[in-house]
Amino acid sequence: MRSKNKKPHLNPPLKGEETKERMVLSKNIISSYTESILDTFSVEKIRRDFPILASRVYGKPLVYLDNAASTQKPASVIEAIRHYYTTEHSNVHRGVHYLSELATQKYEAARVKVQKFLNAGSEREIIFVRGATEAINLVAATYGKKNLKPGDEVLITGLEHHSNIVPWQMICEEKGAHLRVVPIDDNGDIILDEFNRLLSGKTKIAAISHISNALGTVNPVKQMIEMAHRKGVPVLVDGAQAVPHLRADVRDLDADFYVFSSHKVFGPTGIGILYGKTQLLESMPPYQGGGDMIKSVTFEKTIFNDIPYKFEAGTPHIEGAIGLGAAIDYLNLFDWNRVQEYEQALLQFAEGEISAIDGLKIIGTAKEKAGVISFVLEGIHPHDIGTILDREGIAIRTGHHCAQPVMQRFGIPATARASFAFYNTREEVQALVRSIQKVKEVFEHV
Ligand code: ALA
Repeated sequence: MRSKNKKPHLNPPLKGEETKERMVLSKNIISSYTESILDTFSVEKIRRDFPILASRVYGKPLVYLDNAASTQKPASVIEAIRHYYTTEHSNVHRGVHYLSELATQKYEAARVKVQKFLNAGSEREIIFVRGATEAINLVAATYGKKNLKPGDEVLITGLEHHSNIVPWQMICEEKGAHLRVVPIDDNGDIILDEFNRLLSGKTKIAAISHISNALGTVNPVKQMIEMAHRKGVPVLVDGAQAVPHLRADVRDLDADFYVFSSHKVFGPTGIGILYGKTQLLESMPPYQGGGDMIKSVTFEKTIFNDIPYKFEAGTPHIEGAIGLGAAIDYLNLFDWNRVQEYEQALLQFAEGEISAIDGLKIIGTAKEKAGVISFVLEGIHPHDIGTILDREGIAIRTGHHCAQPVMQRFGIPATARASFAFYNTREEVQALVRSIQKVKEVFEHV
């Protein structure tokens, strides 16, 4: 992850640049090391794996910088889903026939891929859910239902996405418990002393994001988990924004719960993962009732199934699991040290370019950041920025990013947010910068 302490050096001229572009870029100083990472990473080869990246929007090449909202899919993921429906589909865990057994085997193989991806101790600890949001709701509704009583506390941070706020508010209200919030500083870093101070005998769970979707802050989750465990508090980590940028290791982190969404990690929509430690999952009541989550049912009494099936009522998102498995296979092809190095170099380059624009302010300047640049332009609403950029073929997200308390913390209603994946390029960053300049020109004449 990027550290603000790395001092950049003067960069040599970039290859093949127009004079006009150099003027725009002239304030950006990146080290020759960063330069060489940007030059040598096989980004063009990677881009060929993603069919949509070759498309045009309003006659312009697509520049897709909305990866924090959802990432694009490699051809292998699309093909895995097509193949499944063409040759393998039936319901899982229900039939003795060939197709049902095949579908079951593929579905369960995907679970093992996720287990290895997260380095979980057992595939029983991997629950397929609809996404990170459902995973957090599941934990709030079941762990919260069992463990919270009046006066207890749930600890979150000021950086959370609504999905890691609202489910806790709902269960706290139901149980008479209180939501406590760890403040963030002006850079968008969590104030760790406050985290430590707010962990108390009343805290029944802490729920923290690994990486902030609105600011890109990478939180020191391992350290925070250690702090919480010292006080006997289990921790849920919202990894939705982290898994596209780093390899999360739930055992190394010692996370009690870790959640993520497939669609943010190059897999299909509508599926995600709840990882939970065996002992915790076994102690929790089911989330939903229905088929597959039972061992036996009579009108008098139901015996629930073992984990993970206890939490997977109804026919699951079979092709979603298989598609996520294919996305993990794809990610496993890469050396993640190289990917991270490239993403950090691109982020550093982009921050240099973007912050050099007069009247532009980056919101979120944390010590460690990944994948996200949120910004505001003096006198121009983020929605106007997003609309004009769209006409240039550039997709960014504008608004509160489902993190209204973060916006409130910085006293702004919204930001424009460019968010990156490992298939984005330096040229795309330059296109973004040119288009932001155009936005300014449009507004100068209004
Ligand atoms: N959570 C997603 C985002 O940050 C949708 O855009």
